[in-house]
Amino acid sequence: MSITDEEERARAVRPLRTPRARSVLMCPPEHFDVVYRINPWMNPGLPTDTPLAMRQWDELHRRYVALGFDVQLIEPLAGLPDMVYAANGGFVIGNVAYGASFAYPERQPEGPAYREWLRVAGFEVVAPHEVNEGEGDFLLVGETILAGTGFRSSDASHRELAGVFGREVLTLRLVDPSFYHLDTALAVLDDAPGREHIAYLPRAFDADSRALLADRYPDAILVDDADAAVLGLNAFSDGYHVVIASRAIGFARQLRDHGYEPIGVDLSELLLGGGGVKCCTLELRR
Ligand code: ARG
Repeated sequence: MSITDEEERARAVRPLRTPRARSVLMCPPEHFDVVYRINPWMNPGLPTDTPLAMRQWDELHRRYVALGFDVQLIEPLAGLPDMVYAANGGFVIGNVAYGASFAYPERQPEGPAYREWLRVAGFEVVAPHEVNEGEGDFLLVGETILAGTGFRSSDASHRELAGVFGREVLTLRLVDPSFYHLDTALAVLDDAPGREHIAYLPRAFDADSRALLADRYPDAILVDDADAAVLGLNAFSDGYHVVIASRAIGFARQLRDHGYEPIGVDLSELLLGGGGVKCCTLELRR
């Protein structure tokens, strides 16, 4: 069989993907810097280039706008160098926003800042009692919330989350400090009920969580170490276009094989803080 025939056949079995325009919240990295170390990616001894971080972030912003997303912005606050990672600011479904309560004191003031933004934007904001870092650890797939723990969000926050939204919450235990938030180890590719599809790095999870993921998502894409090491899984999908780290070459190929259109963006500067595409993106599901 010639290459073209093979390609033809692959195309024929490739599932059809449907994009759905998204509404997201982002925070410009005006005050981005690495001045403390709360994850293994961060090294305060290395220089950061804030103007470069801004240019790279602008490119991500432009991509989202070009995809037809509604992009909202929150004012960055001086003294909060990690505020660019908007995913951690809360978790939103419908009109309800579950507020974040950060694990490390360095980021704690971000909790009230994001809650206030969400309140003014018209969401019913639930103030958290438990430590949780929002969409960094909570991801909606179909009707189910996947919830990470082990480094940041507590087990107790998963129970609080289930109470707030009245939905099934599946606890997933992270075991590798480099993949400290769920959104660094698992990407939601299709969140539509009945079409749920994810990608993940199996070794970032404990054995029980791996078994759970294999059982629930037998057709998931398993990424390799090289792609995970550039935070390739820290991706944002609209159901068809998947915005990923441009260096995640293997993952991009896997995405194409599964009928998605990968869009590479270089956020190398924000990687110095241990974050990528998804970290900079909080989905506002209205
Ligand atoms: N420096 C930040 C921290 O350690 C990075 C947060 C990345 N955000 C994410 N959603 N994974 O908290």
